[in-house]
Amino acid sequence: MVPQRRVYVDNFLRSWFTTYMLGIFDSGFGGLTVLKPIHELLPKLSTIYLGDNARAPYGVRSQDEIYRYTLEGVRFLFEQGCPLVLLACNTASAQALRRIQEEVMPSEFPDRRVLGVIRPAAEYLASHATSVGIFATPATVKSNAYVEELQKLNPEVSVSQLACPGLTDIIEAGKQDGENCNQLIKHFTSELLDANPSIEQVLLGCTHFPLIYDKFRNNIPKNIEVLVQGDIVANSLKHYLDRHPDILARIDQSGTRQYFTSGTDISPLGSIFYGEEIDQWKTFK
Ligand code: DGL
Repeated sequence: MVPQRRVYVDNFLRSWFTTYMLGIFDSGFGGLTVLKPIHELLPKLSTIYLGDNARAPYGVRSQDEIYRYTLEGVRFLFEQGCPLVLLACNTASAQALRRIQEEVMPSEFPDRRVLGVIRPAAEYLASHATSVGIFATPATVKSNAYVEELQKLNPEVSVSQLACPGLTDIIEAGKQDGENCNQLIKHFTSELLDANPSIEQVLLGCTHFPLIYDKFRNNIPKNIEVLVQGDIVANSLKHYLDRHPDILARIDQSGTRQYFTSGTDISPLGSIFYGEEIDQWKTFK
């Protein structure tokens, strides 16, 4: 436990020497598919992105590992001066967010906030469909976070979810155009949809999956809507900042953008996820 006095002194000193930014965290490059719509909707907000590529994928890791790695990322972003961090990762949101909010924030960072991507997506689904399907990582599915959030928001909605092991690894390795990826998606889509013919909407509940949106779309009947999270999360963030002007006022509005990765191979993949060239990656150890 860090002594309260030290927390206040650290926070005070930091406030004099730091540019405050919105922090975005993901296990790898997936969060860039959320960052892009945030930049489009809120272009003035200064942002700092951290992808823990060296330890991705998180989706096959234990709850304890996901919690520890996510907390390290959040601490790093707080050290850079972020008053608000968004976990742009379903796996981290499902397995680490609540514990960070309950066990770490009140004692160490009482004036900062951490948000996730599951709640905004669940809010959208709860008001747009009565039968939804979720494709996500094994850890997200195991947490049952989507089922619980949707039940709280609208007990009438039926939720069917399927773990999709292997997909994140393929995408992080840049091998999404290979036949293996097609085969896996064919298998996952028929497994979920054949067993649940009433599904009206499916969510790609992993921020890596927008990269293979077309492959999902091609294997899902046209009458079923296929959703990704970027725009939903960006809109929800905007509403959050409208409701919390105190947090918004603490974020620099000069549109500065910084990108950090724990990976050593700073490949062009980041730009593919973001949909535009990112050429200034820095290393996070
Ligand atoms: N992009 C992530 C998610 O939304 C994490 C995938 C992974 O690292 O397994 O769940």
